[in-house]
Amino acid sequence: MTAARGIREETGELREKIRALLRERRAILLAHNYQRPEVQDIADLCGDSLELSIKASQTDKEVIVFCGVHFMAETASILCPDKKVLLPVSGAGCPMADMITAEKLLRKREEMSKTGPVVVISYVNTTAQVKAESDLCCTSANAVQVAGSVDPSFQIFMTPDRNLAQYTRRHSNRDITYWDGYCPIHNNLSVDQVSKVRAAHPGAVFLAHPECPPEVLDLADQVKSTSGMIAYARESGAREFIIGTEAGILHPLSKANPDKRFIPADPAMICHDMKKIGLKEIVTALETLQPEVKVPEDVRERAVLAVNRMLSIPSGYRVSDNDFGKARGRNRSKSYP
Ligand code: 13P
Ligand code: SF4
Repeated sequence: MTAARGIREETGELREKIRALLRERRAILLAHNYQRPEVQDIADLCGDSLELSIKASQTDKEVIVFCGVHFMAETASILCPDKKVLLPVSGAGCPMADMITAEKLLRKREEMSKTGPVVVISYVNTTAQVKAESDLCCTSANAVQVAGSVDPSFQIFMTPDRNLAQYTRRHSNRDITYWDGYCPIHNNLSVDQVSKVRAAHPGAVFLAHPECPPEVLDLADQVKSTSGMIAYARESGAREFIIGTEAGILHPLSKANPDKRFIPADPAMICHDMKKIGLKEIVTALETLQPEVKVPEDVRERAVLAVNRMLSIPSGYRVSDNDFGKARGRNRSKSYP
């Protein structure tokens, strides 16, 4: 037997095992668009952070196997406290999410509060503790609408991504103060690199993720979340696209559009945390029901307010003074300095 055939057979066996275990455990498998191709291919649903949060909140399954990074599994735990949420590799994290802590956020809120009331908008790429100290959550798909939903009498502070915050500030026309965090993968994409790829593919449409630096976003034809890119490419009449986000997205893009060509803006854009989960780790997680991600109830009950406010915004929810008054009351009772 050739090595390639051996790998194909092993993959086939693992896939069968995962399907059987998913049935047995009454489990759903969710995968982010950056996951390895074989993980995306076995998932019940692939999507961006917003879609995966919504799906997690709606499932009637008892177990959620989250193939993504830690903050995503935490968001599922925040929304589904009665379900078991598994992150098959517990060390799969997001370096940007670790750039802000609840303590630092509280200090920032206190400082800004001296000049008037503040609304804190946390990117979903944050820990549950940070969400618990936030008024609203947002994702790359809805940051502009979320900021636009805040009454203009409030100052807005966004964390942790400075690039997403600057993009949101520009497109919501709101004066947004922001934390100086960034995604190490997206933030590395340079104007020189994009210009080089554009020169080689002059007719291609350049799609960029809002985590890229502002000067790169200035070159983009469209700025989209990962699923936004998939939808845009599907509907567009263009045949060639330059993709300014993590390399994992090339798999669903090519799968949904076999007749179109997708060129990475920089092939070095790989998030190693997003590649930690493989089929074997999913089998082990389903067999052992470990590693589990469980947000403590005292954190969850505050974090869920920020997440639910975000989820309500597309249906016309408008945040009011009363809402945040309640949130600030809760924060005051916390023991952080
Ligand atoms: P999306 O919500 O657009 O999928 O982005 C998540 C992420 O981590 C981007 O780096
Ligand atoms: Fe975090 Fe960046 Fe990886 Fe997304 S690509 S999970 S923001 S490190």
